[in-house]
Amino acid sequence: MQIYKVGGAVRDRLLGKPVTDIDWVVVGATTEEMLAKGFRPVGADFPVFLHPKSGEEYALARTERKSGRGYGGFTFHASPEVTLEEDLIRRDLTINAMAEDDQQNLTDPYHGQRDLEARLLRHVSPAFAEDPLRVLRVARFAARYAGLGFTVAPETLELMRQLSESGELEALTAERSWKEISRALMEDQPRVFIEVLRECGALKVLMPEVDALFGVPQPEAHHPEIDTGVHTLSVLEQAARHKQPLTVRWACLLHDLGKGLTPEEEWPRHIAHEHKGLKLIKAVNERFKAPKDCQELALLVGEYHTHGHRALELKPSTLLELLQSFDVYRRPQRFEEFIAACEMDARGRKGLEQRSYPQADYLRGAANAARTVAVQPLLEKGFKGPELGEAIKRERLKALKAYKDAASA
Ligand code: CTP
Repeated sequence: MQIYKVGGAVRDRLLGKPVTDIDWVVVGATTEEMLAKGFRPVGADFPVFLHPKSGEEYALARTERKSGRGYGGFTFHASPEVTLEEDLIRRDLTINAMAEDDQQNLTDPYHGQRDLEARLLRHVSPAFAEDPLRVLRVARFAARYAGLGFTVAPETLELMRQLSESGELEALTAERSWKEISRALMEDQPRVFIEVLRECGALKVLMPEVDALFGVPQPEAHHPEIDTGVHTLSVLEQAARHKQPLTVRWACLLHDLGKGLTPEEEWPRHIAHEHKGLKLIKAVNERFKAPKDCQELALLVGEYHTHGHRALELKPSTLLELLQSFDVYRRPQRFEEFIAACEMDARGRKGLEQRSYPQADYLRGAANAARTVAVQPLLEKGFKGPELGEAIKRERLKALKAYKDAASA
């Protein structure tokens, strides 16, 4: 049997990037031989094994034939006769279809190295269409390598367009899609992920609620960029630039979905878009089974981002409601993430990227003021049950009034 390093490990070494996990392909071996060498099988009928010591993935060279819709519809053909070239041709991109032996000799039948130099994400063969997840993968790689000057080859974009129109994307599971989306959002240029998906028509299928924001105007006084889709991309860009976590990036992407529902006669104003957007945010959250913290923050940011911007004008009672909605006493981190998302929203506007955001410290100060209210003295006064709750609220309101007075003095 011959063993080769393949895929991302080869690509990233040639790009001079750090290699984190290594995938191997094994040519000329049978399942029985692998088991005899102590490799552990990954799945019942999947020809992939884990190395007994390193735990790295070793896959038998295989060809794939599509037998049905979606990812479930695969049959694998792995046998010792399958050649390295046959294995590589069914991979997604030429830059991912190179192999290297233990002497670092490169096997590159589909010109991955040439495309690395040309900074092109190009599919290897029509077999690309066998796995629709690759539409998301290409968009993710575009986001990751945009800084190096990579773009999607026109013929690959065309194939992605056909796949998006064919209805194949709808067969993807929530788990596989979310894995790509969440990784893509954490790249340096997540806006490129959304842009590429939009360009090939996949955004309309995956997140029609986000796609609908393009072409929707906002008032120029607050939004010099005018277009809501462009604004959303800029907010995401700010979130990446400020190294925000996934929760914040997800919330940034979804915060203005309600603006896509405004009747054209009301443009460019979007009355109550915060509230109207909630059902759309919920739908997207559920479609991809986003983790609970991402779901929660997206809904809270959707509902309250305008409160964040108007923080300095809010009445103490409204401030208190905001803090209560965030359960800021037990979940301080989530409130910090809300503040961050509001700040990214304020900066994701043309020409306003560097603006200061005094609302952030003001909101932090308000949370601290409300937190200073001690429960013990109220217990000692004999409050309990719902009355205790009311008493705590009254004290917090007092603290917030004092805070606001001091801040505006
Ligand atoms: N691959 C593919 N189609 C997929 C998934 C993977 O062709 N839908 C192939 C590619 O050759 C890829 C390799 O399997 O390079 C390994 O896949 P994976 O580990 O998911 O990605 P990497 O290319 O290693 O990239 P990353 O750095 O994002 O992990």
